Amino acid sequence: MSQLKNLTWPMVEEYLKHSKSIVLPIGSCEQHGPTGLIGTDFMTAEALAEKYCDEHRIIMAPSFNYGMAGHHLGFPGTISLSPETYTKALIDIFNSMIYTGFEKVLIINGHGGNVPFVQAAVSQIKYDNKDSSFETYLENWWKSPSLENYQQEHFGEANGFHATCGEVSLTQHIAEKAFEKIENTQFKIDSNRPKHHPLSASELKKYYPDGRMSSNPGLASKEHGAELERLYLDYLKERYKGIIHEL
Ligand code: NI
Repeated sequence: MSQLKNLTWPMVEEYLKHSKSIVLPIGSCEQHGPTGLIGTDFMTAEALAEKYCDEHRIIMAPSFNYGMAGHHLGFPGTISLSPETYTKALIDIFNSMIYTGFEKVLIINGHGGNVPFVQAAVSQIKYDNKDSSFETYLENWWKSPSLENYQQEHFGEANGFHATCGEVSLTQHIAEKAFEKIENTQFKIDSNRPKHHPLSASELKKYYPDGRMSSNPGLASKEHGAELERLYLDYLKERYKGIIHEL
């Protein structure tokens, strides 16, 4: 039990007799600076979700790999949905889960830009179904307390906001082979930060010409990544006991 893609419908039906929980990893397909992987945001969400689901025998839905990355389109390799399409796609995914018997979804998110649209999608479902008791839990992994502390302690200000040391470390841990051809480089932290938000694709490229946002991913390591993963799985285990997984 764990990955929906490997189950049959009778297996899912059987699962639903004792659990109504499902985990949905979501991410984004977007540039992560000169030394970070395009797949960073969905690879991290998926790897963390998969380990959590394996450990606690929860079904994991296929990862939704495209997200809200319009502001990164100044860089090749980025593929984005529009805000409207993204929100509607999430509504369809959640409605399918509800219709087929799931009542709780833990969303493990790898990309900050997705957050308002996840909230908009769930709000629309609740607006359209005023008696709905569908429960969603949105987890932005890098913001959980122990991971925030760890990143602050080890990277400080150099963690930045995009292509962070934390996310690059985690991908180095989960996709070590992909980094064989990428040279680890130290970067200066930019200080030319815009005050307004969100940015257009050309604004982002102007303020952050190599795609990093105030980070020095040269501080990342797979050892840090392994530690971040361990801390996060501990956090999920404690936080979602009796909510998503059984006691
Ligand atoms: Ni990212």
